[in-house]
Amino acid sequence: MRLEIRPVIATELNSLEQALAETLWACVQGGASVSFVLPFSQNDATRFWSDQVFPAVQRNDVILFGAFVDGRLQGTAQLAISQPANQLHRADVAKLLVHPEARRSGLGRALMLAVEAEARTLGKTLLVLDTRSGDPSQRLYESLGFNVAGSIPGYCRNPQTETYEATTYLYKALI
Ligand SMILES: CC(C)(COP(=O)(O)OP(=O)(O)OC[C@H]1O[C@@H](n2cnc3c(N)ncnc32)[C@H](O)[C@@H]1OP(=O)(O)O)[C@@H](O)C(=O)NCCC(=O)NCCS
Repeated sequence: MRLEIRPVIATELNSLEQALAETLWACVQGGASVSFVLPFSQNDATRFWSDQVFPAVQRNDVILFGAFVDGRLQGTAQLAISQPANQLHRADVAKLLVHPEARRSGLGRALMLAVEAEARTLGKTLLVLDTRSGDPSQRLYESLGFNVAGSIPGYCRNPQTETYEATTYLYKALI
């Protein structure tokens, strides 16, 4: 397996739209808590990228990363670098997604390491993210040195059921 992790440039966005949508769609169908609830169609997934993420990438508010396995996008993550004037040292990590077919092969960890390296290059000294409390991703984040700031009960609806789940906020100082 040849794995490449890199930022996606604006001119590539359209050609990657389908793979990004497929990855998001498959994650949500599998129960990922990443802003959406079922029913969630492939068109819903495509619209998320084209309407929300691509414009932010084009404005340079967000750096979008792709994890390419043998040239095929199988994972992604975002670094939101545009912050208020009093928080320019901070960046947020969002939408770490690995296609269910490609899990437990190190893509998630590799994406997070690339995101962190880019943040350091940009002079960011604080990373913040959140996840469903107890999610496998929380274990990944903590293994990478993220600290739990706290959790908020009942923050998100479960994507598949009418129940509400806690969200945990985590941070990492890049110093
Ligand atoms: C979380 C996610 C990105 C992990 O991606 P991945 O490529 O499978 O992760 P990796 O192979 O790099 O695993 C890194 C570590 O994360 C932890 N981990 C990942 N999946 C796990 C699972 N199902 N159960 C327990 N720990 C898990 C482990 O500590 C693992 O290290 P190990 O394999 O040495 O034990 C992936 O499961 C995913 O896309 N989930 C759905 C979307 C989502 O919820 N994203 C998080 C949004 S905040």
